[in-house]
Amino acid sequence: MEIDYLTLSDFEKRDKRVLLRLDINCPLDPTTNQILDDTRIGSAKPTLDMLVDARVAVLSHQSRPGREDFTSLEQHSTLLQKHCTQRVRFIDDVMGPAARQAIKELKKGEVLVLDNVRLCAEENLQERGEKLTRTNLVRRLAPFFDLYVNDAFAAAHRSQASLVAFPYVLPSAAGKLMERELGALKRLLEEPDRPSTYVLGGAKIEDKVPVIENILSTRKGDHVLLGGVVGKVFLKAAGQRFNENEEEELAKSQQQVEKAKHILAKYKKQIIVPSDFGTLERGKRVNVPVEKMRGAGVSLDIGPRTTEDFARIINRSKTVVANGPIGVFEQEGFETGTRSLLESMANSNAFTVIGGGHLAGYAGILGIAERFSHVSTAGGAMLSLLAGEELPAIVALVDAAKRHKRSSAKS
Ligand code: 3PG
Repeated sequence: MEIDYLTLSDFEKRDKRVLLRLDINCPLDPTTNQILDDTRIGSAKPTLDMLVDARVAVLSHQSRPGREDFTSLEQHSTLLQKHCTQRVRFIDDVMGPAARQAIKELKKGEVLVLDNVRLCAEENLQERGEKLTRTNLVRRLAPFFDLYVNDAFAAAHRSQASLVAFPYVLPSAAGKLMERELGALKRLLEEPDRPSTYVLGGAKIEDKVPVIENILSTRKGDHVLLGGVVGKVFLKAAGQRFNENEEEELAKSQQQVEKAKHILAKYKKQIIVPSDFGTLERGKRVNVPVEKMRGAGVSLDIGPRTTEDFARIINRSKTVVANGPIGVFEQEGFETGTRSLLESMANSNAFTVIGGGHLAGYAGILGIAERFSHVSTAGGAMLSLLAGEELPAIVALVDAAKRHKRSSAKS
């Protein structure tokens, strides 16, 4: 993918009206809906520091419509205040008259956080950037700004209006976080040191299954180790049976199971699935070999044999990329697989990258985050990039840079 975009240093910022797309989508406590980890909010600081003389409106999302954690951005805005010197205000509107009036009234050095952009139905469309310039979101907001800045690397794999359309109607730049992430991941996009191992866990299997095929077909990874739900999807594809409840859950992902079958047919040797699990039985952890999962409790972690196998492969690797926890580490007794994965990576001499809010957050809790070569704020976007896919938000920034250069050459 061509990565030649403009940055904040290419533009005058003083007194300008800047529309800043961040990704401050955070994990929330399922009972209280309070933010559990504000790493992504703090990561906006370097960009906001460069915009201290500008008038900034922030666009971002939290979760997706219909989910429990689909909330307003009010508490995000309170936390953002802690990470920047500007005065931060929140408005519970995205593009209506109240939001537009507040944008008009923005003073130099102020930051206005607009509400969750996915409250606008149009934002949930996935289309090309040029087409999405016709959305109300872009038509109503763009006239108020001099510059669009995209610092939402973690959402760069989504082709949604707030991420891909503004670069076609406004001068546009990548923010500091976007620059830092792309700079660090470039090394993996070129020729990774081998053997190169990818460890994938967590949910969002519809994002991960296609990425596994890309990683193997483009030879970016020599091994792919699977845990979490994605590990179970591949075991199911290989004919493994689970208990009734887990079978019911997996039945909802039948399409992904079918895709996994095709991937296994081509890359069986390179894909390592769990050979045992940590399961919950009568309130306690019981380790169960994979062949006995049909009569076992719910699996919440990889088992000790798998943990050792994964550690052995990681120790032999020169590049290790991990995305998503490989067990429910938040639940006492089921943290060992994910903890061991992170510790093996932190202790290795390989080039190590972790991504996905939960995994990066847990590395922080364990106090080992600084022992990784790079901790990405992104999950799916990082994986898609590394698997050789084009990220629509970056494509839009590259297109904007080309237009900017052409018009500067003419004048
Ligand atoms: C993420 O957390 O991966 C990004 O914020 C994108 O969120 P999405 O998967 O809901 O588009």
